[in-house]
Amino acid sequence: MCGADGQIPLKRLCSPGQCSVLAVRDNATLTRGGIVNTLNQGNQWGRYDTRRDSRRHHPRASRLSTHRRGRAMSDRPEMFEGTDRIWMDGEFVDFEDAQTHVLTHALHYGTGVFEGVRCYDTEQGPAVFRWEEHLDRLYKSAKPYDLDIEFSKDELTEATTELIETEGFESCYIRPIVYYGFDSLGVSPKDCPTKTTIAAWPWGAYLGEEALEEGVDVMVSSWRKHASSQIPTNIKTTGLYVNSMLAGEEARRNGYTEAIVLNKEGNVAEGPGENIFMVRDGEIYTPGLAESILEGITRNTAITLAEEMGYTVHEEATISRGELYTADELFFTGTAAEVTPIRSVDDNEIGEGTKGPVTDELQSAFFDVIESGDREEWFHYV
Ligand SMILES: Cc1ncc(COP(=O)(O)O)c(C=O)c1O
Repeated sequence: MCGADGQIPLKRLCSPGQCSVLAVRDNATLTRGGIVNTLNQGNQWGRYDTRRDSRRHHPRASRLSTHRRGRAMSDRPEMFEGTDRIWMDGEFVDFEDAQTHVLTHALHYGTGVFEGVRCYDTEQGPAVFRWEEHLDRLYKSAKPYDLDIEFSKDELTEATTELIETEGFESCYIRPIVYYGFDSLGVSPKDCPTKTTIAAWPWGAYLGEEALEEGVDVMVSSWRKHASSQIPTNIKTTGLYVNSMLAGEEARRNGYTEAIVLNKEGNVAEGPGENIFMVRDGEIYTPGLAESILEGITRNTAITLAEEMGYTVHEEATISRGELYTADELFFTGTAAEVTPIRSVDDNEIGEGTKGPVTDELQSAFFDVIESGDREEWFHYV
């Protein structure tokens, strides 16, 4: 039931019976279970409430949100909006027919590799951001698992382009996945077929539109990231994401928007679905690949843009937990999270507790690129 409680006006998000979100009141999301979910919006103690109103609104961020809403974006950014057709192993199939067997190897053992890519509605029209780099990473991810992708990069590009065109998306999130299907359920996937699927659907700002402006409150997770000596962490394997899920859910249960995960040595690794950057004394630091991080493509974009703007970037940094608390600025990068400021860690305010000037400058540069779409080497135009 959506509706008001008679005390404080509620913003209605959906028709009765259509979704589990009842309403947004102030900064909290009320769900059917009555849970107050502070996703996107500060912590449950409202520590930053009084300041939030005075924060500057970023015109580019709001223009982008309009672009992203090309196809009825939900106020729940993480909600799946649906799509009509999915590309599976060389064919377009209807959404309902995009099925896989319950004895699929990847379902049991996490043996899949995938990508998360965004297509933006740029001034040059819909364009997939850093598609080549995402494709390269997909093939790299497949390598240690001997997953033999049966389609060429050109074929996957063609399938993706056709999918976006026929679905009529101006902007969307794209999810290619390659995984071991069913043959036998031994841990060895030797005789399992390789399945390849690409889906695309409209998706808003991962941590919420407001997060891009105001920043997010995060906690250091009690879960450590796998060491890269245990499982390759620089690539995107489905099985790795149980760690991300545990860390992210722990954070949300405790009223935070997102987690920061430390590596086995106790140094800062990354977020569950984001790389992390720190600003100190005007210089930028981000953990290196040896710290058990995903080799993020947005991380690379941010480093490139920051260096072009004249910043010194330490891209192989080792960052201690303590340095997080004393940082001038912190921000996440990721295809889903884009460039999201972090305004507190474990309830310690970072800088002024709002988006810092370096983050602001870099975020603006990032949005300029994806809004204009005119940096040709970074776009595949649809
Ligand atoms: C664990 C992890 N780290 C970092 C990132 C950011 O990577 P990218 O910028 O390539 O999306 C992601 C997102 O895919 C991720 O899942």
